Amino acid sequence: MGYRVVIAGATGNVGREMLNILAERQFPVDEIAVLASRKSLGTEVTFGDKTLTTQDLDTFDFAGWDMALFAVGSDATKKYAPKAAAVGCVVIDNSSLYRYDHDVPLIVPEVNPQAVHGYAKKNIIANPNCSTAQMVVALKPLHDRAKIKRVVVSTYQSVSGSGKDAIDELWDQTKAVYNPTQDVPPSVYTKQIAFNVIPHIDVFLDDGSTKEEWKMVAETKKIIDPSIKVTATCVRVPVFVGHSEAINIEFEDFLDEDEARDILREAPGIMVIDKREDGGYVTPVECVGDFATFISRIRQDSTLDNGLNLWCVSDNLRKGAALNAVQIAELLGREVLKKG
Ligand SMILES: NC(=O)c1ccc[n+]([C@@H]2O[C@H](COP(=O)([O-])OP(=O)(O)OC[C@H]3O[C@@H](n4cnc5c(N)ncnc54)[C@H](OP(=O)(O)O)[C@@H]3O)[C@@H](O)[C@H]2O)c1
Repeated sequence: MGYRVVIAGATGNVGREMLNILAERQFPVDEIAVLASRKSLGTEVTFGDKTLTTQDLDTFDFAGWDMALFAVGSDATKKYAPKAAAVGCVVIDNSSLYRYDHDVPLIVPEVNPQAVHGYAKKNIIANPNCSTAQMVVALKPLHDRAKIKRVVVSTYQSVSGSGKDAIDELWDQTKAVYNPTQDVPPSVYTKQIAFNVIPHIDVFLDDGSTKEEWKMVAETKKIIDPSIKVTATCVRVPVFVGHSEAINIEFEDFLDEDEARDILREAPGIMVIDKREDGGYVTPVECVGDFATFISRIRQDSTLDNGLNLWCVSDNLRKGAALNAVQIAELLGREVLKKG
């Protein structure tokens, strides 16, 4: 016997990727419902070799469904996730709405799978921000060995992290650069994204940081260890899919770069590609469609007593969203619901 699974936001970037990953990983599905807004009613989406027809999230009855994977943004989540949770359908949410709620576990299955048992307080589990998810997969095994004191991270985040309209904006602006009769003014972003980089993701906070930067700080603390200090600069770059991060780590204890490489090679969810030669590292284009978080450029930071630098790349629609959500669904099934 398998699960009755709902995908809310099935016409979006993350929702479509969730359907692909459920099929790829042969998640035990008995029945699946795909939901989006009323304007997408009847839109067809693919699940393995099946074609499914989208239903309206607004009128859907969640009673009798085991779990609902939500990828609809915070506003729609606020309206619909409590309805699902109230009738016993466990919500696995991709938005930021519940991530900092003490009664909702925030889970990256390679890092804090034990947190799944906290789902029952609200019947909701939160999926972290895309930049945090890939970073904590890399940090956790190193923290276990040498205790991380401080992390300085700069991100290079792809436009797919802002939804499907952002992908169109990069595509249209890129074409317009070669055709000056077309003008594609910024809409999703505040400045041109084609052939540019924008040091601004999500809203500004009073201290001059952005909400995206704050999320990396707060979520790393919640998922791994509140004692880890994180400072982040989050930048949008003209890449369609795949987030990259330059990460500087200061440890309590000395950790040699070779030992760090060995630890990461053994760590779940990580693939080390680190050849110290031309092309011996991973770039976002190469990580698309993959499950792994790729680590390259592991090296000692000689300006610190106990410091390392590394380069971390992952498919933001997969580990940063859909894959992590499906891994949470697998964990919930294995540890709690025990069907299939
Ligand atoms: N992309 C990433 O890397 C990433 C990573 C982590 C988390 N997330 C989060 O995942 C969520 C979805 O992101 P996305 O990139 O997939 O966005 P997207 O491509 O813009 O898709 C949004 C989806 O939500 C649906 N939706 C929006 N408002 C709705 C409403 N009021 N009622 C019903 N359905 C509604 C849309 O349906 P229609 O097609 O009918 O409008 C569409 O299916 C967001 O919360 C985002 O922050 C994304």
